[in-house]
Amino acid sequence: MIDVLKERGFEVNLTNDELIHEINKLRKECNAIILAHFYQESEIQDIADFVGDSLQLSQQAAKTDADVIVFAGVHFMAETAKILSPSKTVLIPDLEAGCSLADSCKYADFEAFLKNYPGHTVISYVNTTAEIKALTDIICTSSNALEIVKSLPENEKIVFAPDRNLGNYIKTVTGRDMVIWDGACHVHQRFSLEKIVELKKENPAAKIIAHPECDKTILLIADFVGSTAAMLKFTQGDNASAYIVCTESGILHQMRKSHPEKNFIPAPPNDSTCACNDCQFMKLITLKKIYLSLKNNTFEITMDENLRAKAEKPIRRMLEMSEKLGIK
Ligand code: 13P
Ligand code: SF4
Repeated sequence: MIDVLKERGFEVNLTNDELIHEINKLRKECNAIILAHFYQESEIQDIADFVGDSLQLSQQAAKTDADVIVFAGVHFMAETAKILSPSKTVLIPDLEAGCSLADSCKYADFEAFLKNYPGHTVISYVNTTAEIKALTDIICTSSNALEIVKSLPENEKIVFAPDRNLGNYIKTVTGRDMVIWDGACHVHQRFSLEKIVELKKENPAAKIIAHPECDKTILLIADFVGSTAAMLKFTQGDNASAYIVCTESGILHQMRKSHPEKNFIPAPPNDSTCACNDCQFMKLITLKKIYLSLKNNTFEITMDENLRAKAEKPIRRMLEMSEKLGIK
């Protein structure tokens, strides 16, 4: 492991306390902010200027007056920040922090697919590349997708991409005319229904809460379905003493911080003996890499201006609609 990090230029001999000290010094000097997704390691969430879900992070990126944004998340999130704040330096500490869901929707395939559906409004999840966003009418996140679809006229024909689970969930709830791209997030797709049902038998008082990227079978047995921010909010306002949490395990940190007396049980994946389900892309970001990112100005997100301007329109539309609908 050390050799791999050395080879990729990530070897640093500092303790965590020293790293945090250096990060704090550098972020002040560079007028930088660190934005972190709920799926990041706890130690990163604890040093971030802001921790949130995809929607909240894009809202922060759009309004910050920092000169530099260090994105502790995955590539499409940093790219979205750059699209919204083109004059700022946006850094991602590891360029290999990708997303299997974004990868499941390639530009040429999607462009050809859309030719079959003229007259449709194209709604894409934020988990897409800038190129896919440029082919889209409205971007959404798991926080606002349902409300955005509901707010459109009832007879509007919709193409929804790329997550089939979120798309089918919205289609079932709203009964809208939706054509859905067949993509999925490998993390949410691999939860084990069998293991979740066993956990529920062992903890009958626990409520099952699930992210809409999970398979339909999980969503059907869930007591609550929502984005990471919505799941967190649900546990804060609800009176159950335990929850089986069906999303990436990073979110448990905020849940436990907010309600240490409650029992938060991570839902396990079907393909390993691990109790938790981690996104290996999210977990590529480390304190060391954040330190190196600030020190060396790496890795900067750059984009062709024409593409950026095209991708910005559907994101701005999402932000405006979210504001109108009161979704934060
Ligand atoms: P939210 O941040 O919208 O909950 O989405 C989760 C996710 O999978 C991000 O990659
Ligand atoms: Fe992508 Fe899934 Fe990882 Fe989120 S959890 S970044 S959707 S692979």
